[in-house]
Amino acid sequence: MKPDVLVVWPNRPRHMALLESRYALHHLYREEDPERLLAEVGPRVRALVTTGEKGASAGLIGRLPSLEIVACFGVGIDAIDQEACGRRNIPITNTPDVLTEDVADMGLALMLAVMRRIPFGDRWVREGRWRSEGTMPLTTSPRGRTLGILGLGRIGRALARRGEALGMKIAYHGRRRQADVAWPFYPDLVEMARRADVLALCCPGGEATRGIVTAEVIEALGPEGFLVNVARGSVVDEPALVKALGEGRIAGAGLDVFADEPNVPETLLGMENVVLQPHAASATVSTRDAMAQLVVDNLEAHFAGRPLLTPFR
Ligand code: NAP
Ligand code: 8YV
Repeated sequence: MKPDVLVVWPNRPRHMALLESRYALHHLYREEDPERLLAEVGPRVRALVTTGEKGASAGLIGRLPSLEIVACFGVGIDAIDQEACGRRNIPITNTPDVLTEDVADMGLALMLAVMRRIPFGDRWVREGRWRSEGTMPLTTSPRGRTLGILGLGRIGRALARRGEALGMKIAYHGRRRQADVAWPFYPDLVEMARRADVLALCCPGGEATRGIVTAEVIEALGPEGFLVNVARGSVVDEPALVKALGEGRIAGAGLDVFADEPNVPETLLGMENVVLQPHAASATVSTRDAMAQLVVDNLEAHFAGRPLLTPFR
């Protein structure tokens, strides 16, 4: 008998086909009557496949009394109820490392796009303004400016390296000073924002970081400061950010993530000083394939009784 696996949200088609060949998959996301499906297969489900965005609630986990493992397609597991899993010693696997460089690339791309006004320049050309109005307004160089990183982990460090390659100074904030880097550590996020020209968010989401980028942090970044978010929308006081952008109290923002995806605050859509992405930082074919492969490999290891490849710690 194939083990029963509940799919909250699918990942890459080839990897889903592989899973389909090994397990009895139950596709919650395409079920018209999820209640009926859960009542029927919930008691037998031994593994759950989900994504960083869709996660798994305590309510769902509670419907799966035989659950042995949660395999997440994504490194951030803030949408998965860790307490509910922890109470029953259910391991969660995620996809660290394989996405680090692409996510850092997106951080870099958003930073340059908003500072150098790339989408604005693109429109300047397409709309014929180059011909009718001449050169576009001058933009901001990153060189010599300070990139303040909130969350100097795998992605934060990869972004810091990119910042250094652009001639930027690096600073960071987190819960502790890190012994193996020489960059200045700011125990106070407001203080770092005051010193930073760009504040890049690279920490996990979840309750511990909810709203830690407050109106005060945004104010400290100041009218010449830029905010880049490749972490989670929950990390920022989004209404305060939107207000500050609208009133020119910060210079601009490059945002890949939002508080209520896929709903993006309407006001942001009309702003020239923001560059927006649809939570796409890891969304390259090679990285998404590598993430999906980790889901497959972790499930395989679990059912073979081998150590998991990437258990979340
Ligand atoms: P990581 O290696 O664990 O790094 C996260 C860093 O955040 C840690 O080094 C930690 O440093 C810091 N941190 C943790 N809790 C904190 C807190 N309460 N306050 C301040 N700093 C805190 O994780 P990663 O692989 O770099 O991924 C980071 C996050 O990026 C993920 O959790 C996910 O939310 C997000 N992400 C987004 C996308 C996207 O598509 N936009 C893709 C991948 C990942 P200290 O221990 O020193 O505090
Ligand atoms: C993905 C992410 O967009 O890894 C994460 O934490 O947010 C992203 O890589 C997501 O998990 C896939 O849906």
